[in-house]
Amino acid sequence: MPHLAPTEHKPSTSTFHFRCIACGVLANSAGQDFRCSNCGDLLEITYPAWTFSAADLKSRWRERRTSNASADLSGVWRFRDLLPALEREAQVVTLREGNTPLYELPRCSHITGIPRLYAKHQGLNPTGSFKDTGMTVAASFARQAGYRWVACASTGNTSASMAAYAARGGMRSLVLVPEGKISWSKLSQALDYGALTCQLRTDFDGCLRLLQELVRRAPVYQLNSINPFRLEGQKTLALELGEQLDWQPPDHIIVPGGNLGNSSAIGKALLEMRDLGLIHRLPKLSIIQAEGANALVRTMREAQGKRLISVQAETHATAIRIGNPASWKKAVHVLQATGGACEQVSEVEIAQAKAEIGAEGIGCEPASAVTLAGLKKLVRQNFVRKDQTVVLVLTGNLLKDPDFTMEFHRGDSLREASQAGEAISALRRPPVVLDATIDAVLGTLAKADETGQTDSHG
Ligand code: F0G
Repeated sequence: MPHLAPTEHKPSTSTFHFRCIACGVLANSAGQDFRCSNCGDLLEITYPAWTFSAADLKSRWRERRTSNASADLSGVWRFRDLLPALEREAQVVTLREGNTPLYELPRCSHITGIPRLYAKHQGLNPTGSFKDTGMTVAASFARQAGYRWVACASTGNTSASMAAYAARGGMRSLVLVPEGKISWSKLSQALDYGALTCQLRTDFDGCLRLLQELVRRAPVYQLNSINPFRLEGQKTLALELGEQLDWQPPDHIIVPGGNLGNSSAIGKALLEMRDLGLIHRLPKLSIIQAEGANALVRTMREAQGKRLISVQAETHATAIRIGNPASWKKAVHVLQATGGACEQVSEVEIAQAKAEIGAEGIGCEPASAVTLAGLKKLVRQNFVRKDQTVVLVLTGNLLKDPDFTMEFHRGDSLREASQAGEAISALRRPPVVLDATIDAVLGTLAKADETGQTDSHG
């Protein structure tokens, strides 16, 4: 297992505390449930002694890109100055996560009227989702603490990622997923990486409740995004994005919202980057949810962010089928601190946006597509202006949910949707079954050419 770069001294400035997000109490250690011993709210990690120069950090990170040391090859640990420090002798559990591309989206630019539109594709991480960037940090701390077992509740991606990093770190993993509500692709990853996988007859929120009870009764280490080490790793998306845009921050970053760990992590990073002088203005971080899993939207609209309004979640974007998001308070803080919006999108809008991102030759899973669907709404509301730069965070790979994609293109989904309309029909690409003759293929080719099918997005 790879070590931190041997020439590198552990920067003393990344020693850290846990701080309660509600009462502010500081602690040097956290209990099994990562909650404040004083008031029971969530903990976050803070660094008391950062005295970095921004220019120094930028050049250090640039230099590490030419290094072959394993920590430097990770797009997460390359930024380790702003992460909690492992003990010197401890080993990093890494699969070379991060280092994900920032793509231009010319077709989606045309559709939305936003010329400077980019996708940061976290689905190109080792297990196919953004979870890997947090998992490398949290799994490394789990191993350092000597845990034999790690565990999570999941809608699929966390479990796939946790199982992989546990396997790499020589730990056993326990996965709790809602039966019948996660994609086969994600479930099969957990199995292959060797997790003990329990399909529980409940939803994600039920799985998470059970996990909270479990960590109090058994010596297993919790790797849900309640674990603040996860969020520290997920912060690196914003740092990598900063580099990719030559430290000229975009005007808007748009993320999907489920359990609300990722938005919290990216928002924390943006605030830290501003405080360190790495960027000079804050992007607005907006969070998009599915209409059927819109707890944060309702919390903002009906309770002004002051108390959580839980919902009974239902959406085909199963990754974000969450009604009782654990990190809602952190997400509210991020929305308020950056001035971002919180929106919801329908099932039809999600399916359409997913196919539009697919037609870029990029693709993503349904939950990620809420970002493009949400952007269309934010443009209509004039919250996003056409002269602004926008980054969509694509959280999961297209291959994560092949059933959703097949049903869409075959026309098996959104049937009830005359709802769907022409825009959806134009995006569908059903497979064509033919006799195995040259004439049949040539005929089909000519017909497609006439209808201009493949060019329909200009
Ligand atoms: N996108 C994808 C692809 C996800 O898998 C998730 C969450 C989210 C967005 C939402 O991120 O929870 O940080 O707000 N998936 C978790 C899981 C819950 O178990 O895989 P969030």
